[in-house]
Amino acid sequence: MKVVLIGANGTLGRAVHTALRERGHEVVTASREGADLSVDITDPESIRAMYDALDERGDAVDAVACAAGSVPWRPLGELTVRDVRGGLEGKAVSQIELVRQGAARLPAHASYTLITGILAREPLLTGSVASLVNGAVEAFVKAAAIELPGRQRINAVSPTVFVESLDAYGDTFAGFDAVPVARAAHAYVKSVEGRRTGEVFRVE
Ligand SMILES: NC(=O)c1ccc[n+]([C@@H]2O[C@H](COP(=O)([O-])OP(=O)(O)OC[C@H]3O[C@@H](n4cnc5c(N)ncnc54)[C@H](OP(=O)(O)O)[C@@H]3O)[C@@H](O)[C@H]2O)c1
Repeated sequence: MKVVLIGANGTLGRAVHTALRERGHEVVTASREGADLSVDITDPESIRAMYDALDERGDAVDAVACAAGSVPWRPLGELTVRDVRGGLEGKAVSQIELVRQGAARLPAHASYTLITGILAREPLLTGSVASLVNGAVEAFVKAAAIELPGRQRINAVSPTVFVESLDAYGDTFAGFDAVPVARAAHAYVKSVEGRRTGEVFRVE
C-alpha cells in the first residue's frame, strides 16, 4: 500500500516508518521540514497543498497515518485560553482536517490512523489540555467511522508514554509503565492493514 505518514521524523513517526516499510508498504513522508512532502497540519491550506502534491505525483494514497500533534503541558491554574486553543489546533483540529479533506478526495478504500494517547483515560498533572484533545480525537474517530464515504476506515492509536521519551518527560509519567515505541508502531500496521474501523487501539 502507499501510505502518507505525517510526522515521520519524530520518535513515533520513525518507528511507524520502519514498521510500515518492513511490511512492504511504500511510505511517503510529510512534516514541516525534512520530509518528502512539506505540510503543517495546523494550516488547512497546507493540508490541501499536500493532497494536491500527491495528486500531481500521481500517488494514489491508500492510507493516511498521522504521528504528529502537539499540546501544551501546563498546570490548570496557569492555562490560558491561547493554550487551550493551541492544543485543540495542534492535535485535534489538525488531525480532523486531514480526515475531512481526505474523505472528499481519497479512494473508497482509504484509511486514516490518528494519534491520541493515554491521557484520554488517565489524568496527569499539567495534562488537562492533552486529556481534552486526546478524548476529542477518540470521540471523533468513533463518529467519523459511520459517516466516511465508501469503505473508508478510521482508527486512533492511543499509547502510554514511550520508553524512548521518558527522559524528555522527566517525572511527569512517574509510576506509568512505559512501552517501547515499536509497540505503538505495530498498532499503526494493524490499523492500516486490517479491516477494523472506529476503534481506539490502546497500547499500554
Ligand atoms: N512520546 C510519547 O511518549 C508519546 C506517547 C503517547 C502519545 N504520543 C503522541 O504521539 C505524537 C508524536 O509524539 P512524538 O514523541 O513522536 O513527537 P516528536 O518526536 O516531537 O515528533 C513529532 C513529529 O511531528 C512533526 N510535526 C509536529 N508538528 C507538526 C505540524 N504542525 N505539521 C506537520 N508535522 C508536524 C515533527 O516534524 P517537523 O517539526 O519537521 O514538522 C516530527 O516529525 C504526539 O501527538 C504525542 O502526543 C507521544
